[in-house]
Amino acid sequence: MRCKNMVNVGRRQFLRGGAFATAGAAVASVSGTQAKATPANARVDYPSNRLANLSELVVNEPLDIEYPDADSPGVLIKLGQVVEGGIGPDGDIVAFSTLCPHKGYYMSYNSEDRTLNCPGHFSRFDVEVGGQQTWGHATNNLPQFALRVDDNGDIYAEGADELIYGRLSNVL
Ligand code: FES
Repeated sequence: MRCKNMVNVGRRQFLRGGAFATAGAAVASVSGTQAKATPANARVDYPSNRLANLSELVVNEPLDIEYPDADSPGVLIKLGQVVEGGIGPDGDIVAFSTLCPHKGYYMSYNSEDRTLNCPGHFSRFDVEVGGQQTWGHATNNLPQFALRVDDNGDIYAEGADELIYGRLSNVL
């Protein structure tokens, strides 16, 4: 009999604990609702950085750049034909991050097939079609930098269309 009473006491304690946990969850839920009501501003203010002048570019010879800061390597390439996202008088100048989106290995440019290639796990990205991945372990395309050319032929980078490897925000 005593043993049965102990079981009942234990059951009541358990239920009380459960009720407390439910109340706690309700409070957390209310807090979560409040947090959602004021979302953080996700918009990123990109810097406008001069990368080069049109006169410095040679068709199919990549120029090393850094954007949006010195810890983010990339390439600026004049491809000699109109391409996706290409700017300039010939619509053929593009720029990409050279950090592989998979695990951040530094990639190199293959001028024969116009791809950026990763030595880590062999992902390949086609620079003629917006950095689309054509092979390998990466799960997203290569970040392409938004470019602008001014009246003097100076080329500026002013944004990126994907998250640069290793970052929670492209602009730190
Ligand atoms: Fe480039 Fe893995 S780091 S494919």
